This record gives sequence, C-alpha cells and structure tokens, in this order.
Amino acid sequence: MDINEILAQVDAEIRDIGTREGLEEFRVKYLGRKGIVAQLTGSIPTLPVEERGRFGQQVNALKNKLSCLIREKEKSLADSGTKAASGEEDLGMPGIAQELGHLHPVTQIITRICDIFMRMGFAVVEGPEIENEYNNFTGLNIPLEHPSRDVFDTFYLKGGEKLLLRSHTSPVQIRVMQKQKPPLAVVVPGRVYRPDAVDASHSFMFHQIEGFLVDKGIRFSDLKGILEAFARAVFGEEIKMRFRPHFFPFTEPSAEVDISCIICKGKGCSVCGRKGWLEILGSGMIHPNVFKHVGIDPEVYTGFAFGMGVERIAMLKYGINDIRLFFENDLRFLKQF
Ligand code: PHE
Repeated sequence: MDINEILAQVDAEIRDIGTREGLEEFRVKYLGRKGIVAQLTGSIPTLPVEERGRFGQQVNALKNKLSCLIREKEKSLADSGTKAASGEEDLGMPGIAQELGHLHPVTQIITRICDIFMRMGFAVVEGPEIENEYNNFTGLNIPLEHPSRDVFDTFYLKGGEKLLLRSHTSPVQIRVMQKQKPPLAVVVPGRVYRPDAVDASHSFMFHQIEGFLVDKGIRFSDLKGILEAFARAVFGEEIKMRFRPHFFPFTEPSAEVDISCIICKGKGCSVCGRKGWLEILGSGMIHPNVFKHVGIDPEVYTGFAFGMGVERIAMLKYGINDIRLFFENDLRFLKQF
C-alpha cells in the first residue's frame, strides 16, 4: 500500500462523512485494531531494514493526521447539531426554561400600599435620600437638642453645608409644602438611614412610606378613617386598630397606631409579646410650627401626617421574623413572593 495514496484518499473520504456513525466507521477502518494503520505497522518487520525507519515515520504521520481529522470532524458534527447526526428531531423534548425574575417583596409592598392610597386620591411623590439638615430636622420642628440630631443617630456627610442621609421620609412634607399649597394629599415611599446596629429587627437602611393630607377643616377623625381603610386593605376586614398617645415634634397631637395581632387575633402570643397588639406606624396632626416653616397659615389649614416602616408591614403581613432577609438577596427567600 502506498502511504501517499492513502493520505490523499483520507482527505476526500472524511469530507463526505455527515453522521457520527459514518465517522465511527471511518475511524474503525483506519485506526481500528485491524485497521489500515495497524496493518501498515504490522508490515514494518517485512521491509528491508534500511526502509523501516522512514516507513515507520510515514505511518506515524498518517496516524496523527487521522486523529486530527477525526477530532475536527467530531467538532463540526457537534456544532451542526445532533439533529443532523441522528436524522430526526425530538419534538416532545421540553424546552430550556428561562428563569423569570420578579419584583423584590419590598417593592411589591410599596406598590401595593401606594395603590391603596392612590385609590383614595393621594399622589405619589419621591424625595432625595441625601437631605439637608433643615428639611430633615429644623423645618419639622425637631429642636437642636433632640437626640436624633446627634451624629450618633444620623449619618452626616462631610462638607460645608450640613448634608445627611435622611433618617425618615418626613422631610418630603417640607419639600412638597414649600412648592405646593393645599389641598394636598401625598404619599412618599423611599429609603431612610439610621446608624442602628443590625439585628433581626433593625437595619441601618430601611423603607418608609410617609403620608400627609392638608386642607381646610381636616380633623383627627379623617386620619383615623384613612388609616383604618388602609389597614383593612392590607391586613383584611376583621383587623382592629387602636391609637396610642405618643410624641413627635412635627405632629400634635401624635399617636402611634397598633393593629390587633394578626397571629393571635388579639388574645396575646409570642409575636405580639402577649399584648395582642402590633405597632405599625406613627401619626398625628401636623404641628402649626411646621406649617409656619413652609408658609401655610395654620389658622386656615389643618392636616395629618403618618409614617410607616415598609419592612415592618411586610414582616407582619407575611410572618417574616428577620429584617435582614430583605437585604441578603438569598433567592430561596425572594422566590417565595
Ligand atoms: N417620621 C416618623 C418616624 O420616622 C414617623 C411619623 C411620620 C410620625 C409622620 C408622625 C407623622 O418615626
């Protein structure tokens, strides 16, 4: 057998192969145990001694070339798809599923709560997370000696003008009322920051929704009515509410609002600390000093304001016991919503 002839022949032969089976046949024919390369190798001892070396090298070159050709062909067959190799398509084979993302549970709750207020006529407004000291504190009647103005209780930014990461969404009350005059009905979702040590119920960053309504003749009973409609929409018709007297510098009178415990329905359990009630937000009638700061006459207008923690509402609604879960991006948690 002439090796050069074989070399020319394999190029043409392999070009015509279109299936894995065909390629396997080709491999066996040349590289199999009884294949052509084996036969050539076997014939070496029959050659004159001086030809053996050169012939052996040629056989080796042929073997290498065949291996190369087969590898290339395998790759091109795989690239053109198994379809061509098997000659049939499996139409019943399931497709490759795409993982569909969805909104983060905090975003879902914010959307839901804003929807509830929008249906009652409130507009949604956002404000910046970097605020000045005036909007976060002074304009809201929070006195200089108030502990929340302390550097330990607020993230201040370096620089001349006193800038800070807002510690609540209430500064947006100031921003809106400086620009627009009553009647006003606004909700404000957004991130707030406090240098709290992180644990199951505290985070240095969380979300609030502020709400306020200002017009002539707005009374505390309007606040109660609106908040009750809100609580029913989020937690169900049977939910009970109570207003506990409290203090906020920017509202007077002020109240913290509790709902009846959704776990024990008010009987007392470990979730509500045996009290039967769960605190959900702070609220009150907007302080006359706040109105004065924004140029609204407190003798003409009255209004209420409230602020709630979004994660807290979500935790109560879904029975989540650790606020850190919202920020860890663990898909096992997030996929449940
Ligand atoms: N800003 C208050 C807080 O963060 C909540 C609040 C808002 C209370 C509006 C009363 C009125 O605790």
